[in-house]
Amino acid sequence: MTKKASAGSDRAPAGSDRAPADPIGGTGVTWRALAGEALAAREFAFAPHSGFKVGAAVLTPSSRVFRGCNVESAALPLTNCAERVAIQKAVSEGERNILAVAVAGDASYLRRAKASAGATERGDAPLDRFVTPCGACRQVIFEFGPEAPVLLVDLDGGWRLTSARELLPGGFRLEGFEG
Ligand code: THU
Repeated sequence: MTKKASAGSDRAPAGSDRAPADPIGGTGVTWRALAGEALAAREFAFAPHSGFKVGAAVLTPSSRVFRGCNVESAALPLTNCAERVAIQKAVSEGERNILAVAVAGDASYLRRAKASAGATERGDAPLDRFVTPCGACRQVIFEFGPEAPVLLVDLDGGWRLTSARELLPGGFRLEGFEG
């Protein structure tokens, strides 16, 4: 689903309420709204094999938001991650620049495994306390949004802001080969 997002128009699902309320770049879309989009996208995840639902939302410079969820296949390697689904939707609709990305997943299993304290709501918890994009998704995020900030959103409202460059240092791009 594609929609033109506008500040304040979203009814963000629980879990997005703590993400920053400031707008992203020159758009009217707030981090909180983008977090809400990723969480909403997660509801559509098709994950019968792993049971692990992920949602993503990408924002383009024209203030369009594209949602994606993971879509698993019985032939397991054919599974598509939420992030790449969202980016492929954006590119297939004519958008080639990713301004920002939000990824939503249930990191509670990580929290259980790493029982260390530290609220995520300040946004400064370590990356491994969140569901982070896989290597393939990091590459694709980097190709379309090398400067893109990436918001990781937990279901409990915890969030952390990272970036395409932090997730993929020295990432590869074929400059000047835009099709
Ligand atoms: N998955 C995503 O969609 N995005 C991520 O960032 C991490 C992993 C999906 C792939 C698979 O359907 C499930 O999560 C378990 O790996």
